[in-house]
Amino acid sequence: MTDQLTPIDRAKYAAAHCAADFVQDGMRVGLGTGSTAAWLVRRLGQRVREDGLRIIAVPTSTRTAQLGREVGINIVSLDEARWLDLTIDGADEFDSELTLIKGGGGALLQEKIVATASDQMVVITDAAKEVKTLGAFPLPVEVVPFGWQATKVLVEEILASMDVMGRQSSLRMNGDQPFVTDEGNYILDLALGRIGNPRQLSLVLNQVPGVVENGLFVDIADQVVIGHADGRCEMRDLTTGSPETSFAQVNLREATNIFSDL
Ligand code: 5RP
Repeated sequence: MTDQLTPIDRAKYAAAHCAADFVQDGMRVGLGTGSTAAWLVRRLGQRVREDGLRIIAVPTSTRTAQLGREVGINIVSLDEARWLDLTIDGADEFDSELTLIKGGGGALLQEKIVATASDQMVVITDAAKEVKTLGAFPLPVEVVPFGWQATKVLVEEILASMDVMGRQSSLRMNGDQPFVTDEGNYILDLALGRIGNPRQLSLVLNQVPGVVENGLFVDIADQVVIGHADGRCEMRDLTTGSPETSFAQVNLREATNIFSDL
């Protein structure tokens, strides 16, 4: 029941349930990774089982693939789907232009590939993740394990000429071992504090040998659905000439007690 959820989790639930209504019969859908995306996957599974919704879905991680199958969604690879109508995913930070920091869950590479191969990307989030300037959340950068320490030095060097506040990076760990992504890579988390020019930083980071991809999503997201703990959703659409905002309400009593952090 929702009274077992924290206010942040209720907000994530609300955002995911509102965004699930964007999914229509016959769509090819990209499924994000993380706790907010997990609510979405469960809701879509419910619609598949109870309402006969027919979709094919491409997951952005092995965790999401497993959950999707468990709840009855037809999971396929991106190569099988070829192109997607819509991807719905969470974020770690977003600004007014819908530039995102993603990768807190370590799935940024597949998330970026899937979102970019979609006609539309919708971000689902709670309000606390909206920032004026990106960078308080450490920026994840996926690097190949070979020579990762040299890559780390190069990344820190190029940060000296970027419009950022800090330049420390740390290897993400899983206990006493490096965290390994679904693609077999490592992640450097960059403590930048403030990112003045996300577009430039994203382009420059991806020039460093050993860097596979970074967690800045620039010009990828089209809409954001911001959930609130009381079940309200605020939906901002940046695809129209002048950004449009609309609102919806989710019935939190329908929330089941199936929440678990993906
Ligand atoms: C995973 C991500 C997630 O979307 C991001 O970390 C948000 O997660 P959550 O919904 O659990 O707060 O980028 O790589």
